[in-house]
Amino acid sequence: MRIIIDERGKKYLIKNEEFHSDFGFIKKEDIEKSKEGDVLKTHMGREFKVLKPNINDYIDLMERKCSIILPKDIGVVTAYTALGSGQRVVEAGTGSGATALYFGNIVGKNGEVTSYEIREDFAQIAEKNIAGFGLENVQVKFQDVKDGIQERDVDLVFLDLPKPWDVVESAAQSLKIGGYLAAYNPYIEQVLTLHKVLKKFGFSDLKSLECILREIEVKNKGTRPKTRMVGHTGYLTFARIL
Ligand SMILES: C[S@@+](CC[C@H](N)C(=O)[O-])C[C@H]1O[C@@H](n2cnc3c(N)ncnc32)[C@H](O)[C@@H]1O
Repeated sequence: MRIIIDERGKKYLIKNEEFHSDFGFIKKEDIEKSKEGDVLKTHMGREFKVLKPNINDYIDLMERKCSIILPKDIGVVTAYTALGSGQRVVEAGTGSGATALYFGNIVGKNGEVTSYEIREDFAQIAEKNIAGFGLENVQVKFQDVKDGIQERDVDLVFLDLPKPWDVVESAAQSLKIGGYLAAYNPYIEQVLTLHKVLKKFGFSDLKSLECILREIEVKNKGTRPKTRMVGHTGYLTFARIL
């Protein structure tokens, strides 16, 4: 799998066929024989760099049918839950599969990710996206997670769905001692309800936070935070079974 990046930094997934953009077209034979690091030229002389996509490139370009969790939030989730190679993760819902891809990429060949999705159309898109990146350690289950989590001895249960509290009891049975539950919720009311239920089912180390990211603009004129930023994505809640 290869992507090409134009002079503006715009990325495209390419297939072995003629490529067209507002910068002109690249011939099929040039695409076919290109390899990582090459520079391809369109008929207008515009340059495109050939690259093997990493997980962020791939998620940016894959088919998406619902909102995905941004790197700023997934970075905090993986760091706070000490996620690592060989671990077992359960998540719900899958959506288009972005978080499943991040988790699968981190736990690696010796780990596994099971992702529950209630909508068949989303489950199918996610399966296609996961296979497209070549991950074999991620399984998508077309199932309502409220019917129970079957997996046991799990290191992390991650919930990105409207009523995460419905899954807390089941998550408590699924997690190993020391394992984490993490949830992503856009509304503070969801966080309050989740805390109550987490306490009821014996979770410890409850913590909620919001990750606010401010990018810096570096220009000849001066350096300062960008004028526009993402104001809010979601609150992250963490809890542990001890
Ligand atoms: C916002 S999306 C998840 C996005 C995903 N975390 C990502 O970053 O790509 C929420 C998903 O949860 C699914 N969902 C909602 N309730 C569910 C349930 N009870 N069981 C399984 N999936 C559920 C929805 O269909 C939707 O696809």
